[in-house]
Amino acid sequence: MDILKIRNDFPVLRSNSNLAYLDSAAMALKPDCVIDAVDDYYRRLGVNVHRGVYGLSYQATDLYEEAREVIAKFIHASFDEIVFTRGASASLNLVAQSYGMSFIEEGDEVITTPLEHHSSHMPWMNVCKMKKATLKYVPLDKDGRITVDAFKSVLTKKTKVVAITHVSNVMGYITPIKEIIQLAHEVGAIVSLDGAQSVPHMVVDVKDLDCDFLSFSGHKLCGPTGIGILYGKKELLEKMPPVEFGGDMADTVYEQEMTFKNSPYKFETGTPMISSAIGLARACEYLNSIGLDNIGKHEYYLKNLAVEELKKIPGITVYNPDCETGIISFNIDGVHPHDAASVFDNDKVCIRAGHHCAQLITRHLGTIGTLRASFYLYNTEEDVKEFVKAVKDAKDFFGQF
Ligand code: ALA
Repeated sequence: MDILKIRNDFPVLRSNSNLAYLDSAAMALKPDCVIDAVDDYYRRLGVNVHRGVYGLSYQATDLYEEAREVIAKFIHASFDEIVFTRGASASLNLVAQSYGMSFIEEGDEVITTPLEHHSSHMPWMNVCKMKKATLKYVPLDKDGRITVDAFKSVLTKKTKVVAITHVSNVMGYITPIKEIIQLAHEVGAIVSLDGAQSVPHMVVDVKDLDCDFLSFSGHKLCGPTGIGILYGKKELLEKMPPVEFGGDMADTVYEQEMTFKNSPYKFETGTPMISSAIGLARACEYLNSIGLDNIGKHEYYLKNLAVEELKKIPGITVYNPDCETGIISFNIDGVHPHDAASVFDNDKVCIRAGHHCAQLITRHLGTIGTLRASFYLYNTEEDVKEFVKAVKDAKDFFGQF
């Protein structure tokens, strides 16, 4: 990977050459090709899709549906298994609202884990409360990992759904998901996989994993904000009811009766996120041109480099030194993560602080929150140096009090 060339593709990095942007797990920066694609749609077309009976609308529709095709290929899915949503949270909620509210019954069990982002387990907490079903949590091991054995310990014949993360946004651990999916299927359960932190960083092949649903966001994979993807197996999407009703998703409508288009369209009501879908497709092509495997290796290399340096600083707790991805969760002992983060900003090092919308895992770690640095394809060894310097500066600053 030619990192300097890659950095040059990102306007924010071109105009802030001394910026160490280490918050890509919250939001990835956008390359020119994505910004240009969005800009091109608004400048050249700027009209609605699926509705207009004129040339510009046909062109916009072609671009929008071609984006669905590109994104489907990116995760090895079929075109009609891709639902456009507002983001990963909306995708995860859609599965719970539609599949969960339709097919979960009293006495059923749903399995989730304490490593989940709130958007992954809270929708199922709601379904379980409404349906009088039981929500069970996979006990984590001493490092805070999900293991296959621990998963087996909560799996029963009553399990109907497994709502689980592929990569934790706090710990960066990769879930042993293939075995878990296989075990879930053996008892007839379906698996809703949260891919928000995996799809941007590794090859995710839904057919190989055999997951039933996969949710992810555009903005974490260098795409625009306001768009996410729900992948669902065709036969599941077909039997699920829509949860939002209105324009474009309807087929025939009478005063007391209505029918809907087939999936994915029955889940997409109102004017869609046209420019964001087009931009996201370009982001997928951009990441493919660099190679997801190369990107994953690069982030992991930088993460290890940083962890080795952090280990040399006394009074720093790293919660996930052995994670397989590019995420470091840590704290400066005795310093509130939000206070520490303000010192990082002075050093032009962008990191995230807090519970990361995953309170179960931060509580499991015995803390109210962590500082989190997350690496992506455009980060460099120089960023690691700046980051380690900022940690030392923050520690020295708070050490005075
Ligand atoms: N879920 C995103 C994160 O982990 C925003 O930062």
